[in-house]
Amino acid sequence: MSLSVLFLYCMIFASSFFLMINALTCRQDQIQALMQFKNEFESEDCNRSDYFNGVQCDNATGAVTKLQLPSGCFTGTLKSNSSLFGLHQLRYLNLSHSNFTSSSLPSEFSNLKRLEVLSLASSGFTGQVPSEISNLVLLTHLNLSHNELTGGLPLVRNLTKLSVLDFSYNKLSGAIPYDLLPSLPFLSYLDLKKNRLTGSLDVPNTSSSPRLVYLSLGYNLFEGQILEPISKLTNLTYLDLSSLNISYPLDLRVFSPLKSLLVIDLRENRLLPASLSSDSDILLSLDSLYLVQCDIIEFPNILKTFQNLKLLDISNNLIKGKVPEWLWKLPRLSIVNLVNNSFTGFEGSSEVLLNSSVQIIDFAYNSMTGEIPVPPLNSMYYSAWNNSFTGNIPLSICNRSTLVVLDLSYNNFTGPIPQCLSNFKALKVVNLRKNSLEGSIPDEFYSDALIQTLDVGYNRLTGKLPRSLLNCSFLKFLSVDNNRIEDTFPFWLKALPNLHVFTLRSNRFFGHLSPLDQGPLGFPELRILELSDNSFTGSLPPSFFLNWKTSSPIINKDGRMYMGDYKNTYYIYEDTLDLQYKGLFMEQGKVLTSYSTIDFSGNKLEGQIPESIGLLKELIALNLSNNAFTGHIPPSLANVTELESLDLSRNKLSGNIPRGLGSLSFLAYISVAHNQLKGEIPEGPQFSGQAESSFEGNAGLCGLPLQGSCLEPPTQQPKEEDEEEEEEILNWKAVVIGYWPGLLFGLVIAHAIASYKPKWFGKIVSTDKGKEVDPVRLFMTLDSRWDSFNDKDSVEQETDMKK
Ligand SMILES: *[C@@H]1O[C@H](CO)[C@@H](O)[C@H](O)[C@H]1NC(C)=O
Ligand SMILES: *[C@@H]1O[C@H](CO)[C@@H](O)[C@H](O)[C@H]1NC(C)=O
Ligand SMILES: *[C@@H]1O[C@H](CO)[C@@H](O)[C@H](O)[C@H]1NC(C)=O
Ligand SMILES: *[C@@H]1O[C@H](CO)[C@@H](O)[C@H](O)[C@H]1NC(C)=O
Ligand SMILES: *[C@@H]1O[C@H](CO)[C@@H](O)[C@H](O)[C@H]1NC(C)=O
Ligand SMILES: *[C@@H]1O[C@H](CO)[C@@H](O)[C@H](O)[C@H]1NC(C)=O
Ligand SMILES: *[C@@H]1O[C@H](CO)[C@@H](O)[C@H](O)[C@H]1NC(C)=O
Ligand SMILES: *[C@@H]1O[C@H](CO)[C@@H](O)[C@H](O)[C@H]1NC(C)=O
Ligand SMILES: *[C@@H]1O[C@H](CO)[C@@H](O)[C@H](O)[C@H]1NC(C)=O
Ligand SMILES: *[C@@H]1O[C@H](CO)[C@@H](O)[C@H](O)[C@H]1NC(C)=O
Ligand SMILES: *[C@@H]1O[C@H](CO)[C@@H](O)[C@H](O)[C@H]1NC(C)=O
Ligand SMILES: *[C@@H]1O[C@H](CO)[C@@H](O)[C@H](O)[C@H]1NC(C)=O
Repeated sequence: MSLSVLFLYCMIFASSFFLMINALTCRQDQIQALMQFKNEFESEDCNRSDYFNGVQCDNATGAVTKLQLPSGCFTGTLKSNSSLFGLHQLRYLNLSHSNFTSSSLPSEFSNLKRLEVLSLASSGFTGQVPSEISNLVLLTHLNLSHNELTGGLPLVRNLTKLSVLDFSYNKLSGAIPYDLLPSLPFLSYLDLKKNRLTGSLDVPNTSSSPRLVYLSLGYNLFEGQILEPISKLTNLTYLDLSSLNISYPLDLRVFSPLKSLLVIDLRENRLLPASLSSDSDILLSLDSLYLVQCDIIEFPNILKTFQNLKLLDISNNLIKGKVPEWLWKLPRLSIVNLVNNSFTGFEGSSEVLLNSSVQIIDFAYNSMTGEIPVPPLNSMYYSAWNNSFTGNIPLSICNRSTLVVLDLSYNNFTGPIPQCLSNFKALKVVNLRKNSLEGSIPDEFYSDALIQTLDVGYNRLTGKLPRSLLNCSFLKFLSVDNNRIEDTFPFWLKALPNLHVFTLRSNRFFGHLSPLDQGPLGFPELRILELSDNSFTGSLPPSFFLNWKTSSPIINKDGRMYMGDYKNTYYIYEDTLDLQYKGLFMEQGKVLTSYSTIDFSGNKLEGQIPESIGLLKELIALNLSNNAFTGHIPPSLANVTELESLDLSRNKLSGNIPRGLGSLSFLAYISVAHNQLKGEIPEGPQFSGQAESSFEGNAGLCGLPLQGSCLEPPTQQPKEEDEEEEEEILNWKAVVIGYWPGLLFGLVIAHAIASYKPKWFGKIVSTDKGKEVDPVRLFMTLDSRWDSFNDKDSVEQETDMKK
């Protein structure tokens, strides 16, 4: 290697030793081409060392043979004259998870004739796949999934070496070419899920069974004929036929030749009842069965024969009666989802689950009554929310040391919260919301407690907040709202380093909110603090809000991140919260981590609103209504630039509304009604678009939206009826389409609270669109290898909901 080349290396990669190792064998011209390729795009999110880490060159020739871009590395258009297409020796090219901003796939990919692996998934490609792709005859792995590709299925019959082919999540239409399988003798993995494909699949009548082991055809427009050919693919272990769009009920017996099948996903198909109760020995090898939303009305007896079954998801059906006792005898069963059926209970004694191998079970959204069965010995996740169970929470829960999530919310449990709940080792989530529990919250939290979410809202709890909560250094979400807790403000909780959400709304808290030293309140990570409807008194020092972070939280790639992060391979639990926001009340919303609110309404607070409120730049909602605040509205509020909802009504505020508030561009809801404000309402659409009632009860205010201008004496005009009605509709949409700032708000949602998605969404949907329960919350899967969960999927659904 010449000195000058070495010098070039040093210039380019001065900072990294790592990439020297990888790229050392690369020729200078190749390195220049790679740099040029990088320069064709915006690539702020990945530095050179990351980029070159994914490069490999041939030891002998110095030519680039492998390029694996870091996820999210490039943004920009991939042009047909890109220097990428000069890297003729590439064998492995992975540009997945880039953002090629709606480029079409350049036909120049076909220059890279030595490619064996080509992955362009989730990169924003649109349009048709160029036919030249069929020149890449050495390809073994082709992944074009998660783009916006249109047109027919690309012709791949010349790519005879292919073993993995993934076109899923595109907009491909038309029929599958008749010779797709016959011409690809080595194909073992075929994924065409979520396209618009029609017709059937040709499977040759060969004596040797085809190699295909993974086949995913779900969510297309296939017809029934596709079933017969599939039954010839006898080596299949994974089969996804969700939402087949066939007009007659599907007969499971068609799958009887598939003796190796481990996973079958038949969600959103109607199934032939007879085939669910037969004793025929079909699908005996199954370990995971998805029968979600299949209009099943009776518990399928066929499950008795599935002695290898580990995962059963039979949620969102219409099954009545009791869950049969024999189910719990299946020796390997470990994950069971029975959510959203019409089950009335469990067959057998209250110990029926005790000795089963089940670890994760969710039977939420049913009509179960009586006593809840004691959880299986190895329970990790035990969820019964939204049933009608009565009686005490069984004490046997106390010796389930493996329990991580316990959700008994929205039932009718009575009696005390078992003391033991506070000294579990593994427990991370306890949700007992909306029951009729009595007594006080147990006070034995150990210092190494892992608990992150504790929700005991809407019960009849009394006593004080347990001081041992201080031991729960992982606690993020603490909700004790709507109880009868009588205590002073827990200043001591500020020692909890992770507390994000704290609500003690509607209790009997009393005393001062200001610390003894009259300094800042100082909870380090708090984003949501709801103290409304208690009896707090006194004034707040000007520095009250100093030292609050409300800094930008970590946001994932989609910009979405919900509170509560219990997502793992097996289940998802997300914290939900009643939102009082923009004058509306929403039960059980899922909140983004970027959501930040303060609600002190309905207390007896007095004195001035602390000027330091202006430091909370990320605050989205502020509610100080129904107190006795005096003085002026602090002009510093104009610095709370993310503010969407401001309620200062029913206080004793005087003076003008600060002009600066007119520039808060996200502000969609304002109420300053019933104060002693005067002067002109600030100009701007945020203010003039509000209902008049937002300003009523202030004798001295004038300007839009109030009738008349500030110059002339106001004329008496009858109010328009519409406006009043609008306000009474407690409906999220009403705000969005209601009036002008609402439209603005529609956009704002996307950025701040985007994924408001009530826990009850499933229920709401079930009335008009079949039955469906919040797919995110309830998602379960057994094996990450066959992980059918897909982030993009859930984002799509959320987006749909927004529309
Ligand atoms: C490049 O980014 C990675 C993480 O993405 C980081 O570990 C590394 O230190 C960065 N290198 C330079 C030179 O900035
Ligand atoms: C290339 O060289 C590296 C380092 O010397 C070595 O680890 C690697 O196996 C070599 N690769 C080939 C294909 O010879
Ligand atoms: C391609 O890169 C992505 C990261 O962007 C990675 O997740 C994926 O596994 C890679 N695929 C292949 C076949 O290397
Ligand atoms: C590719 O073509 C565009 C014009 O279409 C030109 O601006 C650009 O410089 C060319 N890039 C290269 C690498 O030749
Ligand atoms: C891709 O880049 C464009 C332009 O910068 C941007 O508007 C878009 O949001 C990006 N898409 C993704 C998924 O990052
Ligand atoms: C194709 O890429 C997507 C996105 O990275 C990934 O989810 C999928 O598993 C890949 N398919 C295969 C067969 O590796
Ligand atoms: C496949 O290869 C044959 C012969 O090499 C050629 O005639 C044909 O056009 C190719 N098909 C496609 C779709 O490229
Ligand atoms: C395949 O075999 C079935 C019976 O086993 C027969 O009915 C069918 O005609 C055969 N198809 C072809 C294309 O040979
Ligand atoms: C099908 O599976 C069997 C048993 O797993 C195996 O022996 C056989 O080679 C497979 N057939 C093909 C074509 O891969
Ligand atoms: C199949 O899909 C089409 C288009 O979405 C729809 O109109 C039709 O009702 C569906 N048929 C069945 C049986 O699901
Ligand atoms: C819960 O129990 C109370 C009496 O203890 C009863 O009034 C109420 O209707 C029950 N609610 C439900 C949902 O069963
Ligand atoms: C807003 O914040 C800036 C500094 O961030 C400060 O100089 C200014 O005085 C604040 N405005 C008000 C009205 O408090």
